[in-house]
Amino acid sequence: MQTHSTLAALRAQVRQWRREGASIGFVPTMGNLHAGHHALVALARRHADRVVASIFVNPTQFGPNEDYARYPRTPDSDIKGLAETGCDALFLPPVEQMYPFGTMGCVQMHVPGITDILCGAHRPGHFNGVAQVVARLFNMVQPDLAVFGRKDYQQLQVIRYMTREMSFPVEIIPAPTLREADGLAMSSRNQYLQGDERQTATRIYQTLRFMRDAARQGLPVAGIEDEAVARLEAAGFTVDYAEVRRGDLTRAKSPDEKGLVALVAARLGRTRLIDNLEFDGE
Ligand code: PAF
Repeated sequence: MQTHSTLAALRAQVRQWRREGASIGFVPTMGNLHAGHHALVALARRHADRVVASIFVNPTQFGPNEDYARYPRTPDSDIKGLAETGCDALFLPPVEQMYPFGTMGCVQMHVPGITDILCGAHRPGHFNGVAQVVARLFNMVQPDLAVFGRKDYQQLQVIRYMTREMSFPVEIIPAPTLREADGLAMSSRNQYLQGDERQTATRIYQTLRFMRDAARQGLPVAGIEDEAVARLEAAGFTVDYAEVRRGDLTRAKSPDEKGLVALVAARLGRTRLIDNLEFDGE
């Protein structure tokens, strides 16, 4: 696996592959890679001849009091894991490569509507930062397809919207959420969990399944959401939201609509966890 930190080197590599007629799959990440990320690379591998991954902890998607500084950075083990998973090239740019005029002087991206709800309401500007860096990475890598995990359900919808709206010639491929044996969705932030918090964190997936089962029994959406919040609070979470929405994240009116998804974001101590469950998916 080749590792590139400059755009020029990355582009030379991608041009070479294009000359050979290869298709390019792309997996953007913020590093600290776990089995969930490796599964994204493996999925990209199934759809493309060559796979490029990127590692960049993007400052513009973190709020002023969020975990940008302490976000785990583990480049050595990430490089080893990517090479073992069959990734062909890693783009590991410094911040000046991604934002040559600084993060204050950079062109902004605002995706309306969908970024103001759920996580967007609790992390103002977060999804604009995500859209901005993903747009930059798409321009830099120029992939045929890119893989994003369903665990970040709202992020996936934002990327899909942006890609379509901006006419990026990139196919977006969603990847299933990988879970630990006890149901906790894999996430780099799980390692922030202290002591009993790790066990308590499994309540999120249990609550999502409660929400799905309650919808299947026909309980009203508002009642399901209230009960989900109560269960999470009783377990010790501070809840940002626990909601049942349609697949496009508009509000669900009735529990028997097709394509519903339950979404939770909740904090345990210093750790903010998100997860979701698509009712028709599992
Ligand atoms: O999901 C992530 O890891 C990040 O939000 C992404 C898509 C790599 C953009 O920084």
